[in-house]
Amino acid sequence: MELTFSLTHTTKVSFAESFSGFVSSLGQDSCFVIDSSLDFVEKALPGERVFHVDAEKEKDLNHVESCLEWLIDLNAGRKTALVAVGGGATTDFAAFAASVYKRGMKLVLLPTTLLSAVDSVIGGKTAVNFVAKNIVGTFYPADEVVIVRDFFKTLSEQQIASGKAEIIKLALIKGGRLAEMVCNGEDLLSEDARVADLRTLLSLDAHLRALGKRRRTGDLGSRHGLAVAAGMVLVQEWAEIAGAKEVFPVKELEDLLQKHGVKNDLRKYRTEAKWRKFIMMDKKRNLDKISMVYLKKTGVPGIIYRNSNDILRDLEELR
Ligand SMILES: NC(=O)c1ccc[n+]([C@@H]2O[C@H](COP(=O)([O-])OP(=O)(O)OC[C@H]3O[C@@H](n4cnc5c(N)ncnc54)[C@H](O)[C@@H]3O)[C@@H](O)[C@H]2O)c1
Repeated sequence: MELTFSLTHTTKVSFAESFSGFVSSLGQDSCFVIDSSLDFVEKALPGERVFHVDAEKEKDLNHVESCLEWLIDLNAGRKTALVAVGGGATTDFAAFAASVYKRGMKLVLLPTTLLSAVDSVIGGKTAVNFVAKNIVGTFYPADEVVIVRDFFKTLSEQQIASGKAEIIKLALIKGGRLAEMVCNGEDLLSEDARVADLRTLLSLDAHLRALGKRRRTGDLGSRHGLAVAAGMVLVQEWAEIAGAKEVFPVKELEDLLQKHGVKNDLRKYRTEAKWRKFIMMDKKRNLDKISMVYLKKTGVPGIIYRNSNDILRDLEELR
């Protein structure tokens, strides 16, 4: 007997000028998972209904367990809204907890980094780290995504570069006007970039308003996008030696990243011993094989399905 489940889900997207404005519009039946470094968010909140998570450091099953206990103590129901405020690590964590609590509770995501606005809160992927990064997760689209413009004022240059790296990746894969902007070195956080898809519209709308008046800069966290940038370059190098017929040129990609102020740390990553383990733990690995996604040309990705040991051997050659 076959059972067919049909899952339909829409995520409502809205914008708010300030967090306190958003909180005052919320019903009573809500609780919050907040990135613990965002102390300025705290003031607007009812203390007992707040669970703190220290971003990537606590994005794991132990802290999910504590979060679930906290929800039980609050008597949260499936209709209670779990509101997550933070970067991708916090929204991934909260979305995972929301997806498993009583088989799924209401979920509202408020991204506070460029990367989380362009990527993490879109598409419904949730995850926590277990043995390796993002090994445990679910698909659970949020009921609502709210872009609070005020949040983006405190991002560091590195956090912005990390988000830009994701925009570049998405644009090159998808093609179209945004890819054209990437290739021409146009400002990815400008009005023009809003012609692109929903992800970019979300983040860019927030950034356009926030960038001119940022409160502080520095080198705070968010290496995710930068690792993605290094990975993009590496996979293009690999595709060339793996014999792919058409490969977006490595040099061109490196130049594009540089043009947009995204540092390519591949040289540094190459010297780290742990990359071998990470590749073997890759989510796209299926028993002995890994699907390697690369870029053939703008707007056209390709996939090579290869034995993981062969990939490791090739990558050793590139070191
Ligand atoms: N679910 C998905 O589809 C998806 C997609 C891409 C990435 N991710 C996940 O997202 C995470 C990376 O996201 P990230 O780069 O936002 O990292 P993050 O959540 O770890 O945040 C990076 C740092 O920025 C700080 N921060 C957050 N908001 C801030 C603000 N407004 N001002 C100043 N500092 C702020 C955080 O405290 C942290 O130290 C990874 O865990 C990755 O796996 C998920």
